[in-house]
Amino acid sequence: MKRIRHDGVVVVGAGLAGLTAALAAAPAKVLLLTGAPLNQGCSSAWAQGGMAAALSADDTPALHAADTVAAGAGLVDPVMARLLAEEGPAAVRALADLGAPFDRTADGDFAQSLEAAHSRARVARVKGDQAGRAIMEAVTAAVLAAPHVEVRAGAALRGLLQDVQGAVRGVLAEQDGRMVQILARAVVLATGGIGGLYAVTTTPAELTGDGLGLAALAGAAVADPEFVQFHPTAIDVARDPAPLATEALRGEGAVLVDAAGERFMGRYHPDAELAPRDVVARAIHAEREAGRGAFLDARDAIGDHFPDEFPAVFAACLAGGIDPRRQLIPVAPACHYHMGGIVTDADGRTSLPGLFAAGECASTGVHGANRLASNSLLEAAVFGARAGAAAREAEGLCEPPLALVTGPQLPKPALQVLRQAMSRDAGVIRDAAGLTRLLQLIEELEAKHGQAPALVAARLVAACALARGESRGGHFRADATGAAEPARTFVTLADLQPALKFAAE
Ligand code: SIN
Repeated sequence: MKRIRHDGVVVVGAGLAGLTAALAAAPAKVLLLTGAPLNQGCSSAWAQGGMAAALSADDTPALHAADTVAAGAGLVDPVMARLLAEEGPAAVRALADLGAPFDRTADGDFAQSLEAAHSRARVARVKGDQAGRAIMEAVTAAVLAAPHVEVRAGAALRGLLQDVQGAVRGVLAEQDGRMVQILARAVVLATGGIGGLYAVTTTPAELTGDGLGLAALAGAAVADPEFVQFHPTAIDVARDPAPLATEALRGEGAVLVDAAGERFMGRYHPDAELAPRDVVARAIHAEREAGRGAFLDARDAIGDHFPDEFPAVFAACLAGGIDPRRQLIPVAPACHYHMGGIVTDADGRTSLPGLFAAGECASTGVHGANRLASNSLLEAAVFGARAGAAAREAEGLCEPPLALVTGPQLPKPALQVLRQAMSRDAGVIRDAAGLTRLLQLIEELEAKHGQAPALVAARLVAACALARGESRGGHFRADATGAAEPARTFVTLADLQPALKFAAE
């Protein structure tokens, strides 16, 4: 097998966290690997919300941190939340300096929108629902212009190289059907979330937790994998992935109704449509299960302003045969964000020397059991930059012997079976019987297809959801609806399954 030495940092993933890490690693040389073409296959470019940051005169990082802690249902690390909030304003300004065209007030300040569970209007947006696309275009242009970054699109992560002490010394990548081992001073995983493990997701379907699974196979510590956020209002037009109808529509006054046109959120929470995201997701799930259906009615609140104010949602509706100016939008909860991930410190360091992680595949502790809206792009920018800067200081290259940690790709039909089971048994509502059934399926799939990284990621979610016999944030157990003492989950794969298989080189 071909082996190359890269005297610098390998960054895997080209969402906002990966791109920011690549820029921050200068002057170290960066090899940026992405399985998909730039700006495709990453959730950042699809983000419709914006970036939360205390940018206005009546706001402070302390207030932003307090809202972040409150949203996380007892499991947010307050020190990390404070760090995120304090670095937020500078992160937004840095992106604006790169050319991200955030909406401005008449005075030239950042316009700030209010979103659920924020005590202040603090979300910097771009033309309604265009933030992710516009930010990514600006940062991608900066990366392409950066002399220290070499982008290799179409190079998919297939494994990690470890030395005898367990330090990560490089990656195995597949490009054009050929495998290549790339030795590096440090590896930054920014491989995104796990939406593709669910039948209904708002994220690119190729995000099947491969980075998380490989890191776990290599022995990295993982935190809170059971906490998955389901967005209440994916547009239910039988598309995979499901297009998102941003929460901002409800912020602008759109309401949720059943098929008879009756509003129902008042029965579930005093804040009705602006209740916490997990509450709205469960309410919509319940209405649909009861056969009443769930629809977003934005006809009065947005109406003819749709094409200008929410162009992405408008286009998705039209493509699905719905004119949201005149018709109800059918909605369903969908997997949207993974709060859990590879444990990192404030500089992206994982439990394995040489391995860093940032963005959705990481768990910095800022999201707890329920991410505050519009904190994810912010986390990607803040902690991506910190991880890139720390990775640049990593020690030199290591010589063999190295072990290759890898796993097979799950065949597509098996992945579809897994996705259906994850949505049914590890979805909005869970119970012990469903999670046990899911774990049995994962065992069967592993026996048949090998220990695919996607199956490892699914196992982490299912096993830790089964172990957490309480309901908290995005994790709701129908058989354990109360909350226990708040405690984060910290595990390694060995805790869940002693018989680990490492494919030796
Ligand atoms: C949304 O716009 O509803 C999603 C924003 C987010 O997930 O932070």
